[in-house]
Amino acid sequence: MISVSNVSMRYGAKVLFDEVSTAFTPGKRYGLTGPNGAGKSTFMNLLTGELEPQKGTVVRPRKLGVLRQDQFAFDAYRVLDTVIMGNQRLWAAMEERDRIYEKHEITNDDGMKLGELEGIVGEEDGYSAETDAALLLQGLDIPDEMHQRSMSELQGGQKVRVLLAQALFGHPQALLLDEPTNHLDLDSIHWLQSFLRNYDGVVIVITHDRHFLTSVCTHIADID
Ligand SMILES: Nc1ncnc2c1ncn2[C@@H]1O[C@H](COP(=O)(O)OP(=O)(O)OP(=O)(O)O)[C@@H](O)[C@H]1O
Ligand SMILES: [Mg+2]
Repeated sequence: MISVSNVSMRYGAKVLFDEVSTAFTPGKRYGLTGPNGAGKSTFMNLLTGELEPQKGTVVRPRKLGVLRQDQFAFDAYRVLDTVIMGNQRLWAAMEERDRIYEKHEITNDDGMKLGELEGIVGEEDGYSAETDAALLLQGLDIPDEMHQRSMSELQGGQKVRVLLAQALFGHPQALLLDEPTNHLDLDSIHWLQSFLRNYDGVVIVITHDRHFLTSVCTHIADID
């Protein structure tokens, strides 16, 4: 469940949200609609926590899966790493840990820090992260030989499937998708539609694709 209570947000004289209260419940799939500039992306950023409301509160599950609009943002990374980055707390801890291990000399402070980081990696199932990510990718039809390649080598539809695996990694209780069908071929769109229809958490999706909206969403949240 994601609940929004008395949220207000304005940019200068432009009031986007005034005392908005609403809730999004698991098993329902919401289409977030509204004209250009209505505040759809802003609202999604408030839901993910990327943006703090000027007034009011948002209560969200601990784990959110987010598919951002920019499908080229991870081009510099390996496919497998891109998926693991979906768990930000885990990824940050793993990166810092690896940086310390690469040092020639490890100080006492480094040793303390390593203990702390290994604790986080354990809590977040980091020791099975590569296996978990690979399983997710296999389920999404990304063959094993691609897992070690860089994202830039993938075709548009494959890229979106990897980013979806990223959004799903770490068992999120909600999926927030901004324009997921951009750059997707028809097969991948069909695949995503049936995937979302079978997902049992909260789904909130921004899309201008009418077909996709009618096929996937059970509810519409229209921003007026
Ligand atoms: N950081 C900001 N500072 C000032 N104004 C902003 C900021 N972010 C968004 N806005 C304004 O708030 C309004 C809503 O923007 P937002 O991007 O949320 O709309 P949207 O519904 O996602 O639009 P689109 O359909 O074009 O993607 C717009 O008028 C935008 O110019
Ligand atoms: Mg937008």
